[in-house]
Amino acid sequence: MPKEILVLSGSPKKDGNTATLVDWFVEGARSKGARVEVVRTAFLKYKSAGCTSCRACQKQDGYECAIDDEAKPVLAKMAGVDVIVMATPLYFFAASAQLKLVLDRMFSLYKWDNEAGTMETPLKGKTLVLIASAYEDVGLDSLEKPFALTAAYSGMKFKSLLVPNAGVSGEIKKKESVREKAIALGKEIA
Ligand SMILES: Cc1cc2nc3c(=O)[nH]c(=O)nc-3n(C[C@H](O)[C@H](O)[C@H](O)COP(=O)(O)O)c2cc1C
Repeated sequence: MPKEILVLSGSPKKDGNTATLVDWFVEGARSKGARVEVVRTAFLKYKSAGCTSCRACQKQDGYECAIDDEAKPVLAKMAGVDVIVMATPLYFFAASAQLKLVLDRMFSLYKWDNEAGTMETPLKGKTLVLIASAYEDVGLDSLEKPFALTAAYSGMKFKSLLVPNAGVSGEIKKKESVREKAIALGKEIA
């Protein structure tokens, strides 16, 4: 069975460093037969600025976000694929707001029973991949931490490709060694 991979690409730059890293990763994954879909989270039409903490998702049986906009089917897809890739530029030592718009709404992919102290999620057993780049060499470790913790919390395997000194948007295209690493990661994940 080919692996199903969903990529959430969280940069506002359509042809920048994040988009390039994603292209290379996808090239590697598709060369190994994976089925890959890329969603650019900056360009979805949203009805809310992120998760509104309405908790409606916790009051129904399925794993659906109650906000009916273009992020809703993306969240539903996350529950069905084998691998979720999150790609982001480093913005002030953290993930981009454009990625967080979808990420926080992953709340709908969990069911908590606070009295019993239990949590269930269809994300269990999947793989989470983080792809991130930064202009400097400070802060990618801080960026990585919440993704690694989310994977551990969710029972997911975790992998990351962190690229410091990536330059301004688009400059990463000149970095052949990064290209090779991103393609190799795509192949490995597939
Ligand atoms: C709003 C904003 C904040 C940024 N913050 C940082 C930062 O804290 N540290 C850093 O090294 N680079 C920072 N950068 C640079 C980008 O992370 C870096 O150039 C990245 O590779 C750009 O990816 P992109 O072309 O996909 O947008 C920032 C860029 C922007 C636009």
